[in-house]
Amino acid sequence: MSMIQPGMERADIAFELNGAAVSVSVPPVRRLSQVLRDELRLTGTKVGCDAGDCGACTVLVDGNPVCACLVPAASVSGASVTTVEGLANGRLSALQASFLDHGAAQCGICTPGLLVAATALLERNPTPSEAETQDALGGVLCRCTGYRKIIAAVMDASRHMYGVDHRLPEVGHAVGASPIRLDGVPKVTGDEKFGGDSFPADALAVLVVRSPHYHARFSVGDLDAWAKGYPGIAGVFTAADIPGHNCFGVIGPFADQPALADGFARFRGEAVALVAGEREAILDLDLTDFPIAWTELPHVLQPREARADGASLIHQHRPANVLTSGFVERGDPDAALGSAAVTVSGAIETSFVEHAYIEPEAGFAYMDGGTLVVVACTQAPYMDRDDTAKVLGLAVDKVRIVPTATGGGFGSKLDVSLQPLIGLVAMKTGRPAALVYTRNESMMSTTKRHPAEMQATIGADAEGRIIGMVFEGDFNTGAYASWGPTVANRVPVHASGPYATPNYRAEGRAIHTNGPIAGAFRGFGVPQATIMQETLYDELAGKLGRDRLDFRVKNCLRNGCETVTGQRLESGVGIGECLESLKPHWARALADAKAFNATSVATKRGVGVASCWYGCGNTSLPNPSTIKVGISASGDVMLHQGAVDIGQGSNTVIAQICADALGLPLEKFQLRSADTAITPDAGKTSASRQTFVTGKAAEKAGRALREKILRFANVSEHATITLDGPSIFIREGDATRRIDLTALKADADGLVFVTEETYDPPTQPLDAKGQGKPYAVYGYGAQIAELEVDLKLGTVKLIKITAAHDVGKAINPVLVEGQIEGGIAQGIGMALMEEYIPGRTENLHDYLIPTIGDVPPVEHILIEVPDPEGPFGAKGLGEHVLIPTAPAILNAIRHATGVLVTKVPATPSRILAAIREKEARR
Ligand code: FES
Ligand code: FES
Repeated sequence: MSMIQPGMERADIAFELNGAAVSVSVPPVRRLSQVLRDELRLTGTKVGCDAGDCGACTVLVDGNPVCACLVPAASVSGASVTTVEGLANGRLSALQASFLDHGAAQCGICTPGLLVAATALLERNPTPSEAETQDALGGVLCRCTGYRKIIAAVMDASRHMYGVDHRLPEVGHAVGASPIRLDGVPKVTGDEKFGGDSFPADALAVLVVRSPHYHARFSVGDLDAWAKGYPGIAGVFTAADIPGHNCFGVIGPFADQPALADGFARFRGEAVALVAGEREAILDLDLTDFPIAWTELPHVLQPREARADGASLIHQHRPANVLTSGFVERGDPDAALGSAAVTVSGAIETSFVEHAYIEPEAGFAYMDGGTLVVVACTQAPYMDRDDTAKVLGLAVDKVRIVPTATGGGFGSKLDVSLQPLIGLVAMKTGRPAALVYTRNESMMSTTKRHPAEMQATIGADAEGRIIGMVFEGDFNTGAYASWGPTVANRVPVHASGPYATPNYRAEGRAIHTNGPIAGAFRGFGVPQATIMQETLYDELAGKLGRDRLDFRVKNCLRNGCETVTGQRLESGVGIGECLESLKPHWARALADAKAFNATSVATKRGVGVASCWYGCGNTSLPNPSTIKVGISASGDVMLHQGAVDIGQGSNTVIAQICADALGLPLEKFQLRSADTAITPDAGKTSASRQTFVTGKAAEKAGRALREKILRFANVSEHATITLDGPSIFIREGDATRRIDLTALKADADGLVFVTEETYDPPTQPLDAKGQGKPYAVYGYGAQIAELEVDLKLGTVKLIKITAAHDVGKAINPVLVEGQIEGGIAQGIGMALMEEYIPGRTENLHDYLIPTIGDVPPVEHILIEVPDPEGPFGAKGLGEHVLIPTAPAILNAIRHATGVLVTKVPATPSRILAAIREKEARR
């Protein structure tokens, strides 16, 4: 079989690139994005889909924005091409400066495409309106920011002609300030290296052969004979080649997923074999004749089918396909509901939700002597290391994980994906091995948000006090365990919402199906359960004849309350303040809606409110983070910060905390970001734990380093420290002492003073009834959604979201706002449009996520009720911000239409169906 496909002959193509003449010899139909990245090594142009759906690859061709993945190289012959690398002319462009100033880049993977598209807009119109900005950027997706800061940055670019203010806060004032992100500049210049951006030139490319079936047996044929037909193939690998234990999983006792399926595939998209070869050989390799024989087996996709009598077991040792369940019981809920003045009951179903980060999984691996080095995007380097070592039969210290910049994760990049696969190829061939998942295989093979089938009953007394609640939910965890146990355990703890609920029973079950693996996704099941509880709260308030917001204020947790797990919350409970702060907005929004509806017939306006609470960190499990900080002989503060910054801002926030604890300015800090060979373990980036847990470790480490220096100088704790070149000056009263850092003995890292501190949140196990102290710190929030529903079309137009979040202490307010807006955008997607259907929505064309036109103005209200456990009082935030959005929207739709949509997302067809059903009942 020939390796040269028609149209693959090379041609010399010359064009102007960022003002300089270039020439390449490539097949004329090769994508411009590939030419830029692979031939010209300009990796600022990103590839998120290769199909024109995400806009990450946007470049200018003769001044016009185009998707470089859709442009054949030959078509730019003689043209002028501008990429993100061409935007800065010796110094940042006004737009790049404005992006930094506004915090418009989080993970940064979408940033080049947005900057390029906005540059074209600003060339035509230096002061665009919001609508013009949305119009111009409508083809570029961002999954992190919620777009509002991007809009502001573009509209405000003309004010940044002279660059950005890089000044960092004064000593002792880093916490609470909003300096530009410490890792921000490379995100706007295109220099940031993500998983697919720094492959060694001699790396083998890897293709993954995947199951096209939900459930099937398979056998492979003569792989050597097949490979011989394709020059350039270096090897084909299957489960038989795996040298270690072919099983990984994030929660040890539940680990059940093979890196390569062994004769038996349990979901569509499961990896079954690897083909490694020279890049050109792999690029257009057709796998249709790959020697594998499939025998399809019956499959189940819904939990109720999976639990039915006689359903075949997806894992033989898990009866009824139940992975596990979580349970919380307090008081006597049955008696309480029996005596309640008012009760309401309901059922809600939700869908698989895809993380849809713009960066698909990507990385490379190589052998460094006897050590396997994996350089890839991730949220959890230490977990990757342990799982990769296990699968490949290596000692843990013989695997080194070096995280690249990570273009969004939201939970899914907590699980290993390609790490053991490229590691296997590197080990077997001795060559570096590189892999970027296609959008299709990223969506097919990685984890999703659990679809939930939930039902609940809640009762209140005549005064409107909640007296009891029962909840149960089945969570479709797909073919393998992943984070299913975490969801099953976290949901019952949170399903009450942040409300005092004296009598309570909740059970969450994780059920196996042959659907995609459901794992971690911002909130671990709590967003689904909150839809159930918050929509019932509206109904209950209605039955009681009470204002919906007042009803929540009356019932919310306060300092001194006990939660449903019996945990007494002594202080730091800020949900009351969040709800109170919404009151004027609520009154205004209701009045606006009333006025609007008085004159509008075809379109009705609605207002909804919902709350959240969320325990930060692992549920009743150890959850430590360690931070190392030291001072070098040259007078730099070296912060070894192993918390992966996937866009949320931990690189900046952890440094801010450490700076104030140490008493030195942020400008003296240099970051050593995550690398399992260098930085201590700061745990995974998940469960809203990094600001709280790693931040606390950073606070402890900063204080310990300060004490060490003061002790060395033999002065009291009131002395001040300053760094000036290779000298520390200690001042106490009128006395000043200088320490010559060059005279001190440095350690292997070049540090002359160094401390390492660990923090593990104090939690307690839950007993058989789910009673205990699952979290040391909770964060709280509440949001109002205002929207209009077209009663004929069922479409929803969001008007505004008002979000009050208690963050304890806003370490960096601009980053906090960015988290809020980004979480809200994901909540909007979950509420209104996102529904992953295996086999049907495995791309960003059919799977819809919010675009820049879908996110309305967001007003944030930052509430700071400090938690004594958190660093400077701070609580986590990342998960919280998404949780109230979907129920607030569903409640607003019901307010506008009188109907509750019980299958989420509330698509126009579901809204219309609910309206028609109501009309039919009249
Ligand atoms: Fe070109 Fe997504 S990579 S549009
Ligand atoms: Fe836009 Fe991450 S900042 S996708």
